[in-house]
Amino acid sequence: MIGLLGATGAVGRTAAQRIAAFGLGPLRVGGRNVAAAADVAASLPGPAHAVRVDLGDPAELAAFCDGCRIVVSCAGPTYRVLDTVARAAFAAGADYVDIGGELAAKDALTGHPLAGDRTAVFSAGVMPGLSGLLPRLLAKGRAPRRLDVYVGGAAVFTPLSAVDALLTRGPRFGAPMAAWRGGRVEPNALAPLHGVRLPGFPVPVHAWPYLTTEAQTLAADTRADEVRCYNVFVSGRLPEALAAAWAEADGADPAALAGSVVRASLADNADFGAFYVMLFTARPRPGEPPGPGRIVLTAVDSYALSGVVMALAARAVLTGSVPPGVHLAAEVLDPDATAAELRDDPLVEDFVVS
Ligand SMILES: NC(=O)c1ccc[n+]([C@@H]2O[C@H](COP(=O)([O-])OP(=O)(O)OC[C@H]3O[C@@H](n4cnc5c(N)ncnc54)[C@H](OP(=O)(O)O)[C@@H]3O)[C@@H](O)[C@H]2O)c1
Repeated sequence: MIGLLGATGAVGRTAAQRIAAFGLGPLRVGGRNVAAAADVAASLPGPAHAVRVDLGDPAELAAFCDGCRIVVSCAGPTYRVLDTVARAAFAAGADYVDIGGELAAKDALTGHPLAGDRTAVFSAGVMPGLSGLLPRLLAKGRAPRRLDVYVGGAAVFTPLSAVDALLTRGPRFGAPMAAWRGGRVEPNALAPLHGVRLPGFPVPVHAWPYLTTEAQTLAADTRADEVRCYNVFVSGRLPEALAAAWAEADGADPAALAGSVVRASLADNADFGAFYVMLFTARPRPGEPPGPGRIVLTAVDSYALSGVVMALAARAVLTGSVPPGVHLAAEVLDPDATAAELRDDPLVEDFVVS
């Protein structure tokens, strides 16, 4: 049995379709709105049934996980959920995959007495997720002199993802305006880029430096001399809405502040339509062997694309491609195998490695 939480959501709907289509086993689709979960279960191309579960209710969560080989959570906000569902999955003898969580969730679960036998993979989406995985294709067999990550576009924030965006502040998540240079985080190294044309992006964009902890691990793992990582926006609306909400956030409920972020993303979407671009560039060190220097991935729906990544991660865990332990998807999925899947995926508009 495969337990799937969040299957009625923007990410989970695609994850559910893909996991069912892989034919890996029957699905138990859980959520607070059991009627919506039943509709999803009935739409899947494989055996599935719905059950009511609130992940905040320990007894319901334990019953949901009971009998599962793996529990896959696309529910959120992931920086509140953290290791809650993972612990229930491990207690039921199941492995685990989560759409978010990052280091905060990984650290919370690391050292769990079952972590030596069971597998958990956090942050199996586009960002975090593909943003830390795909650039590794540009560093295979050669440490780059410089690696750049640009991710963003005009995607509508769901309320839960807006809450997550507001929760991901501080050194456990990243450092604004920082770059990775010479083996360490260099604060205040970069400035925002305004009105720049970047490959793959259909309009001039604003790129805000934010050196995520995922990018820091990428830098260390690839031994890149320099890594720059940018969140890309089509206007000033979202950076302004996020900054205003962060300024208010101390002591306030992020859910109450998320509305302004969602509205900013809707306004961008009305002006520019929906698009999402992941651009990675690598510059070689002198004398290094030749290889690809750029990856451009474009999609209309970043949430659905995250659902694809979740399904690939769940399959990798179920088929034994991921060793036991607590991992982040970017560090443990196979970049080549993932790229091969994405290249042919109908939800990916373009995937060009050049
Ligand atoms: N890594 C990435 O790249 C990435 C990309 C996109 C989104 N995300 C994250 O993924 C999460 C989901 O985003 P989304 O846009 O898909 O959200 P969404 O559309 O609002 O869907 C949320 C899903 O979670 C379920 N859920 C929420 N609270 C629950 C609870 N207490 N117990 C059980 N189920 C619960 C909901 O079902 P019920 O309401 O029926 O319970 C629903 O199916 C967010 O935290 C977001 O930040 C990550």
